[in-house]
Amino acid sequence: MCILRHIFLILQLTSYFYGIFGGVCLIPSPVKRQSTRSILDHFIPMHPRLDGRIVGGHRINITDAPHQVSLQTSSHICGGSLISEEWILTAAHCTYGKTADRLRIRLGTSEFARNGELLRIQKIVQHEKFNFTNVDYDYSLLQLKHPIKFDESKKAIKLPEKEETFNDGETCHVSGWGNTQNLLESREWLREVEVPLVNQMLCNEKYEKYGGITERMICAGFLEGGKDACQGDSGGPMVNDAGVLVGVVSWGYGCAKPDYPGVYSRVSYARDWIKEHSGV
Ligand SMILES: *[C@@H]1O[C@H](CO)[C@@H](O)[C@H](O)[C@H]1NC(C)=O
Ligand SMILES: *[C@@H]1O[C@H](CO)[C@@H](O)[C@H](O)[C@H]1NC(C)=O
Repeated sequence: MCILRHIFLILQLTSYFYGIFGGVCLIPSPVKRQSTRSILDHFIPMHPRLDGRIVGGHRINITDAPHQVSLQTSSHICGGSLISEEWILTAAHCTYGKTADRLRIRLGTSEFARNGELLRIQKIVQHEKFNFTNVDYDYSLLQLKHPIKFDESKKAIKLPEKEETFNDGETCHVSGWGNTQNLLESREWLREVEVPLVNQMLCNEKYEKYGGITERMICAGFLEGGKDACQGDSGGPMVNDAGVLVGVVSWGYGCAKPDYPGVYSRVSYARDWIKEHSGV
């Protein structure tokens, strides 16, 4: 029996019935961590529920992660990180098929739905090599229409050096609002989880049937599961103890499942690309 827990609606429906009727597994495809609430979760009670937010983490204040922003259309869809007074780094799968005039950024608040500032975007620079099939080159830059002023709830995060590497097991902090399961829950607070970086070759082995891990990716999580980022955290920051933006929340098989660490876009790989397009 094969049920993918976190996947876009059509696939979820298909894999659900395949699971029920004992069909073969669908060829697994990477499951992007964008916020796509499953209507099925409300209509088919036996369907596994989306975790919907940072899994196994704890509540934080925006002043603990002042680089964190929320990317919104009619509501929160993804996270992002301030890298300067006017540029935000997020995931390409968050901006895929979208235009700048449809997107807003909320920043300077611990709640994605209120307070802080809701700002317009001038321009989306999606990585030209972004591949939706295997989620390779999952980087997008967003330019704010008007630069902001930094304060204790809004600050840029430090970018890594070009090709900077990080140690296996190094602890990183992943933050985000994920997505709420409860339609009546109006206040959503920012959460954070601590996860260790996973060896690249090991992660590649774990994800072999999903096409593996490219050089543009870096994995983090516990092989026993339990702590992870999830849908709605996409595009958000993974920062190490030195305060460097190591990764951007990208994809994973399920969330917090044993043997399937979270996969992040490796920011050091895109260092030159970021510089070229934003000057940062
Ligand atoms: C958030 O900030 C408020 C006010 O400074 C403080 O009372 C509260 O303990 C903080 N919460 C967390 C989770 O840090
Ligand atoms: C995207 O990735 C898939 C799977 O690895 C590959 O088959 C395809 O050629 C890639 N597309 C481009 C345009 O590179």
